[in-house]
Amino acid sequence: MKTSPTLALQNRHVTIRSFTSQGITDEMLTQILEAARRSPTSSNMQAYSIVVVKNPDVKRELAVLAGNQKHVESCPAFLAFCADLHRLNSACELHDVEMTNNLETFIISTIDASLVGMSVQTGAESMGLGAVMIGAMRNHPGEVAKLLGLPENVYVSFGMCLGWPARDQIPPQKPRLPSNLVIHQEKYDSADPQPRIESHNRELARHYVSLGKNQHVAAWSGVIARNLSRPLRPDLLATLEEMGFNISGQGREAG
Ligand SMILES: Cc1cc2nc3c(=O)[nH]c(=O)nc-3n(C[C@H](O)[C@H](O)[C@H](O)COP(=O)(O)O)c2cc1C
Repeated sequence: MKTSPTLALQNRHVTIRSFTSQGITDEMLTQILEAARRSPTSSNMQAYSIVVVKNPDVKRELAVLAGNQKHVESCPAFLAFCADLHRLNSACELHDVEMTNNLETFIISTIDASLVGMSVQTGAESMGLGAVMIGAMRNHPGEVAKLLGLPENVYVSFGMCLGWPARDQIPPQKPRLPSNLVIHQEKYDSADPQPRIESHNRELARHYVSLGKNQHVAAWSGVIARNLSRPLRPDLLATLEEMGFNISGQGREAG
């Protein structure tokens, strides 16, 4: 069967949260970022920016804003993947056009940031680096924006800690949901997912037990139910709108 080094790399993926003290050279980081910039992008808009943070003081503050996630501070390089409409607004102004700013441009910029972020992670892993994405950048998006000097119409969609994996702390791969729950052929298969979810709970519980972790709730669905039993980041919409994203508007209101 034909395979490829890229597929082998993707099949080896694990999130890394412990790094050695070794830095990443600017040369290597530039190589990874330039390759990632070849990622596809909606209508060639390139509606993202990446802020590279190496300053220990800034990483420390970001770690606090991310709920005291120590890897944000200990990684040699932290990358903030921003959804960015600021530059597009400037481009429109060059032509005396008022930029559309609505849910669709919010989604476009967030997808663009996500795609380039995933490319950075894959490129970094191909060089032997490890990474953890940091969604907790959305805990306090206003404070994060201030710290990184983001202009209006830019928010950090997620961050990424990059570094050399601490060899003795590379975790085993986390089991994924059964393939037939997430891959559908031709049409969405709406068959009751619960038996396969319960089977996945058992597999994931065995994984956690093998790591010496106690499991007090059903390993997958229990955590999902706990996390989704309350509104997630209920202030986010209002904050993003204050930052210039016109998510609930029709598209022409000032952003
Ligand atoms: C958008 C996004 C945000 C994430 N945010 C965090 C985070 O804030 N902290 C963290 O430790 N891991 C974070 N992760 C990593 C996930 O927890 C991890 O990918 C998942 O548990 C699967 O584990 P694996 O990547 O090792 O297979 C994030 C992943 C993604 C895709």
